[in-house]
Amino acid sequence: MPDALKLLTTRRSFKPHELSGPPPSAAEIETLLTVASRVPDHGKLVPWRFIVFEGEARRAAGDAIALAFRSKYPDATAEQADAERERLARAPLVIAVVSRAAPHVKIPEWEQMLSAGAAAMNLVLAAYALGYGASWITEWYAYDRAVLDALGLRAHERIAGFVHIGRPPGPPQDRPRPPLSEIATRFRA
Ligand SMILES: Cc1cc2nc3c(=O)[nH]c(=O)nc-3n(C[C@H](O)[C@H](O)[C@H](O)COP(=O)(O)O)c2cc1C
Repeated sequence: MPDALKLLTTRRSFKPHELSGPPPSAAEIETLLTVASRVPDHGKLVPWRFIVFEGEARRAAGDAIALAFRSKYPDATAEQADAERERLARAPLVIAVVSRAAPHVKIPEWEQMLSAGAAAMNLVLAAYALGYGASWITEWYAYDRAVLDALGLRAHERIAGFVHIGRPPGPPQDRPRPPLSEIATRFRA
């Protein structure tokens, strides 16, 4: 499958604001979620779920982000609060990957979290395979309890990432990658 290899060896993230509309269709969103949920999952616990932010719902979620921002920074300007309200509206589609990792008799929570990371990466790759670009970010609001409550996250749930998806501006500029000689060794007895 040479096309898959090309995607994997050339993919780069874009900034959320570089990603433009039109957004993926309902059928494409279904494909994105289908691919994202097709990941290794020790114990078949499904230790992740997804929240789709599209259209005006992106700004409704942004209201909660702006509110939390104002309570953290009461001296913030109206412009700063407005920018926070736009956080999830920079790209035409945002899908949050939520980790549901929890204590389990057999499966370590670490492995459940890794599965959520795999779901996020599969989501990113599916976006590129459909011709979109993506940005996997968390930013401060992924760790803010008031925002998490407003988005419906339970106490043990965490944001693995807000994956921003849209049409890329053009071919990406590459960035340096770690030399394989520094990150891979061959085990020798
Ligand atoms: C869990 C996770 C959270 C991240 N959060 C942010 C973030 O909040 N802000 C940011 O600029 N990059 C964040 N990144 C990094 C970007 O996703 C991306 O790796 C980086 O921009 C370069 O990506 P590329 O090698 O895919 O081009 C995060 C990555 C991961 C895995």
